[in-house]
Amino acid sequence: MVDDKVIQRAPSQHLGPKYRPDEEKPSATVSTKVTHENVTVLPQTPQLIALLTMIRDKTTNRADFIFYSNRINRLLVEEALNHLPCLPQTITTPVGRPYAGVQFEGKICGVSIMRAGEAMEQALRECCRSVRIGKILIQRDEETSLPKLFYDKLPGDVAERWVLLLDPMLATGGSALMAVDVLRSRGVPEDHILFLNLIASPEGAANFAQKFPKVRIVTAFVDQGLDEKNYIVPGLGDFGDRFYTL
Ligand code: PRP
Ligand code: URA
Repeated sequence: MVDDKVIQRAPSQHLGPKYRPDEEKPSATVSTKVTHENVTVLPQTPQLIALLTMIRDKTTNRADFIFYSNRINRLLVEEALNHLPCLPQTITTPVGRPYAGVQFEGKICGVSIMRAGEAMEQALRECCRSVRIGKILIQRDEETSLPKLFYDKLPGDVAERWVLLLDPMLATGGSALMAVDVLRSRGVPEDHILFLNLIASPEGAANFAQKFPKVRIVTAFVDQGLDEKNYIVPGLGDFGDRFYTL
């Protein structure tokens, strides 16, 4: 697909607080800029880029890969929660003063695309105690890169919930699009789906924006592209293998 929504691949940016001069701040490759309205990219802070540097490094061992990817997943969940509706709520503090705050409105659930998406469940549980989590088993064919649906098990009332769909890698977009098809077939409105993703390709983001423009993607980074095997580049390799088996 020709994508006219990619502004620049692999831009470089000085990383650090505004009050520090650029010459004191290292520059690093930051997220490719895309203009799809449904895509939210996490702020490219030194902390996020350092965490991504750890998990992209091929010499990082599995324990560190799990630890640092969990930290990014926490940032993704915290950001995704900002996209849920909330209502005004005024409470009284222990010193008897009112505080005009907000509370979340509506029920949520997680849905992980197995296997790699399950790696994001811990971060979701840390933020939303006893959250319900559904599963969809989709595997990408290693030769054709086409997704195949094997199994799904979702909360019975999924259609009445906001769904946080979990998968760390958005490459061609085939797997996540198929997962959204499953959710749609169970009555979940498109605009009640938030797709939490660690690294996206511009091609995957474009495919998603074209087919499901109301699904909000919250990603840590839009990478430069796909290689001949449809792996994200520079990417981090096979997420599921690095998290579970390598
Ligand atoms: C990976 C990844 C996504 C999919 C992305 O899963 O977790 O689900 O590939 O590729 P796509 O956007 O081109 O569909 P994979 O099927 O390799 O299974 P795994 O989770 O068991 O590693
Ligand atoms: N799945 C992964 O784990 N990594 C990629 O780069 C593409 C698909």
